[in-house]
Amino acid sequence: DRSIKIAPSILAADFANFGAECEAVEAQGADWIHVDVMDGHFVPNITFGPATCKAIRPHIKGVMDVHLMIAPVDPYIQDFADAGADVITAHVEAGPHIHRTLQAIRAAGCKAGVALNPATPASSVEELLDDVDLVCVMTVNPGFGGQSFIDMTSKIRNLRSMIGDRPVHIEIDGGVDPKTAQLVVEAGADVLVAGSAVFRGGSVSNPAPYGDNIRAI
Ligand code: DX5
Ligand code: ZN
Repeated sequence: DRSIKIAPSILAADFANFGAECEAVEAQGADWIHVDVMDGHFVPNITFGPATCKAIRPHIKGVMDVHLMIAPVDPYIQDFADAGADVITAHVEAGPHIHRTLQAIRAAGCKAGVALNPATPASSVEELLDDVDLVCVMTVNPGFGGQSFIDMTSKIRNLRSMIGDRPVHIEIDGGVDPKTAQLVVEAGADVLVAGSAVFRGGSVSNPAPYGDNIRAI
């Protein structure tokens, strides 16, 4: 289904070759590039920040989808916007003023996303649906790639009905593979993040498996 977007997560790519990895997955059919920013505080792992996003930006033709697993968020929004993010997603759990954060993301000229950890109910974003372009439903506890999928299909269904006719994407992040992808799309998701399921078996010198993996999802 062409309206479903596949967003490979570079968390599963070669960290010494981000530019070439982004170009390779895009050439192999990726719709968006998902960029996982972790601070060792909101989540128990550290990846990279705005300088890395800025460095990879020229290697991405399409959407750079920045997932912030950091707290606080607000002091860094302008840095990620200046780095060329198209979408900036913040966690509803990352602080007491998510509404202010989402307003600041839009004010910086980016699309605003809100992410929900597995334990966080759909109702937590009910009052935010006019202030977001995307809701990211985590189907793993954030922090690491390669974890197994946690079934959140009833949350996805609830969100899709709460969203109604608003132009809001539902993105799924964690443990997406050809099998779980089908479940979440049936429930109403339209953007699928996939790390290990896209990058496994390939490399920048052998990128064809990326394309096979993307088409399999
Ligand atoms: C998890 C990240 C995900 C992760 C997905 O904290 O937000 O984007 O990279 O990786 P897979 O697809 O391997 O579960
Ligand atoms: Zn992510």
